[in-house]
Amino acid sequence: VRCSSGRRAIQTTTTRIPNFAFAFDIDGVLLRSSKPIPGAADSLALLKEQGIPFILLTNGGGKHEMERVAEISEKLNVPLDPSVIIQSHSPFAELVKGVDEVGALEHKCVLVAGGDGDSCRRVAEQYGFKNVVTPGDIFMANPSVWPFSKNFTEYYKTFARPLPKPLDPADPTKGLKIDAVFVFNDPRDWALDTQVILDILLSSNGHFGTLSEKNGRADLPNHGYQQDGQPHLYFSNPDLWWAAAYPLPRLGQGGFREALEGVWAATTGGPSKGIELKKTVIGKPYQPTYEFAERQLLRNRAKAFGGAADLPPLQRVYMIGDNPESDIRGANSYRSETGSSWQSILVRTGVYSGGEPAWTPHTIADDVQQAVQWALKTSK
Ligand code: G3P
Ligand code: MG
Repeated sequence: VRCSSGRRAIQTTTTRIPNFAFAFDIDGVLLRSSKPIPGAADSLALLKEQGIPFILLTNGGGKHEMERVAEISEKLNVPLDPSVIIQSHSPFAELVKGVDEVGALEHKCVLVAGGDGDSCRRVAEQYGFKNVVTPGDIFMANPSVWPFSKNFTEYYKTFARPLPKPLDPADPTKGLKIDAVFVFNDPRDWALDTQVILDILLSSNGHFGTLSEKNGRADLPNHGYQQDGQPHLYFSNPDLWWAAAYPLPRLGQGGFREALEGVWAATTGGPSKGIELKKTVIGKPYQPTYEFAERQLLRNRAKAFGGAADLPPLQRVYMIGDNPESDIRGANSYRSETGSSWQSILVRTGVYSGGEPAWTPHTIADDVQQAVQWALKTSK
């Protein structure tokens, strides 16, 4: 029965709206190197059937959310809406129009590194970035930028585009200027990407092919590197390790960042000389990524239950993950804006392989199915 205000006057059916939800990590929990982990499909199907909300919260990426979720739906035989997935780079979409103190980057020239081919450029463009360059574009414009990638020329030829402005023209201020650098996913050519990103960080205000005249001047704060107004560096995923097909964990995007930090320290003196590499790293375990994820979970939950403003508050979120450093640490330290409590469940099917985990989960389960069963029992 609805009164004139459109609100339910009498709730004729008492659909029990769950006050809890789930957040699933993907690699090492639902999939291992794109193959379904036993019990994953049944677990998601059960929650769908019971109307229990969930999101997929991954440090992975490299494809648009629509494409990735369609693949996971197909592999796990469960219909999923693109709004259910939060990937490592999903929050970067907010930088198109600008957020907090970061101005809109929509029309700025941004370098996007990582991923297969220029898949990440295309994701950035689908987010709304209008002027995206890849390290492959720069290499194809002038292969001497990095002499050792010539063996990969055929690969770069398949996706490189002409640069929006020429490299190293007579007047550097007329050449390619990079305003921000993003690492959307794991770089495939660490060497080229390291050289190109370093060139930009050492440049004069992002003008490729220049060296900031301030660089190295000990009399300047931070020796001039990355002065205000110079390109900022964004990483989407801090994972040093992740669970791929190989039985032992593999180096993730965090491994690339550590390598770049090593080159930065060697070429500028680095933190020991007070020259920190200024950067922003998002992804699990950091608070902004969990806030972004919870906001999406709450939007999805409200939509699923008719947008009723009088939904019972979400009280608990079970975070099921395989990596103590990102999934367990993140859920344990997350302080919800809306008062929900996040309980971490560590599974044995990914990075964690036994022993005392570096971050203590609420409980440890053999796999995602056992984790969901434990949570459903606990939530009663
Ligand atoms: O690149 C993916 C990896 O870093 C971890 O992904 O799904 O376990 O957070 P996920
Ligand atoms: Mg994982």
